[in-house]
Amino acid sequence: MEMNNTKIVIDDSIKIYKRGSIEVVALRGLSCTFHKGEIAVIMGPSGCGKTTLLNMIGGLDRLNSGKIIVDGQDIAQFTDKEVEKYRRAKIGFVFQFMNLIPELNAVENITLPLELSGTLTKERKEFIQELLKIVGLEDRQNHRPDELSGGEQQRISIAAALANDPEIILCDEPTGELDSLSKKVVMDLLRSVIEKFPEKTMIIVSHDPELKAIADQMFYIRDGNISHTFTKSELQAKQQATLTPGDVQTYMPSNPDETNKAILTELRHIDHFVKDKINSIEKKMHPV
Ligand SMILES: Nc1ncnc2c1ncn2[C@@H]1O[C@H](COP(=O)(O)OP(=O)(O)O)[C@@H](O)[C@H]1O
Ligand SMILES: [Mg+2]
Repeated sequence: MEMNNTKIVIDDSIKIYKRGSIEVVALRGLSCTFHKGEIAVIMGPSGCGKTTLLNMIGGLDRLNSGKIIVDGQDIAQFTDKEVEKYRRAKIGFVFQFMNLIPELNAVENITLPLELSGTLTKERKEFIQELLKIVGLEDRQNHRPDELSGGEQQRISIAAALANDPEIILCDEPTGELDSLSKKVVMDLLRSVIEKFPEKTMIIVSHDPELKAIADQMFYIRDGNISHTFTKSELQAKQQATLTPGDVQTYMPSNPDETNKAILTELRHIDHFVKDKINSIEKKMHPV
């Protein structure tokens, strides 16, 4: 393994959403690191801040405070123009709802964004043919989305996300809409993408614990902060232990009461540290 394969460092990220007079702290001083050639799976219940975190990394939204260092540069300090350039050059998104245009066939769905941005070169077209092979749908490229199964549509979406050869692939609940067989195929495909392109970094957020099967690193988020981290070696040890695939509880310690207590203690601890910071940000949002 490379000595320094660090790709993204998130440092003390805070994101507060305002909805009318209500404020939601979606990221509460969250910090974590992502590596090249690895899949990080981020799990946690609905509303814990998974999509928020992905949107920040993808440059779709901005933090209230904290750093997002990608290749040594803090994108939180970028101008809007720089963020847009970053997003186009480095990011590929895969969403739960496949975002395919019904009137276009599979290959057109992949090429359209490149055509619009004027970057559909001959080389890119060849690369897209290669991608269609990788996702196993070379012979389906002239089919429209409604002529493809859900799993096939998601495979086309993955090819579309890879079409501009992004360094960072962000997947938000990529298996959320799939039956169990398609889910397996999509999971295997995501794994094979990172094996095939070891310079890329993949981050998958999901509430589905089965995705841990393809993870090199796993984070568990509670209430806008990391509550558990599992490293590659810890995951490997777990995979080799007597656990059955799909066992929902395997990533949690065995005594749920102890776990909840530990999580609460940790959250109180974290809260203590970030409360002042959040207060000061809130003051800035509402100057008196
Ligand atoms: N645009 C928004 N405006 C207001 N609140 C939001 C917005 N986006 C997310 N939130 C809130 O932030 C919290 C985290 O949301 P999200 O990141 O979507 O969670 P997850 O993806 O883990 O389900 C939730 O309480 C959610 O309601
Ligand atoms: Mg979400």
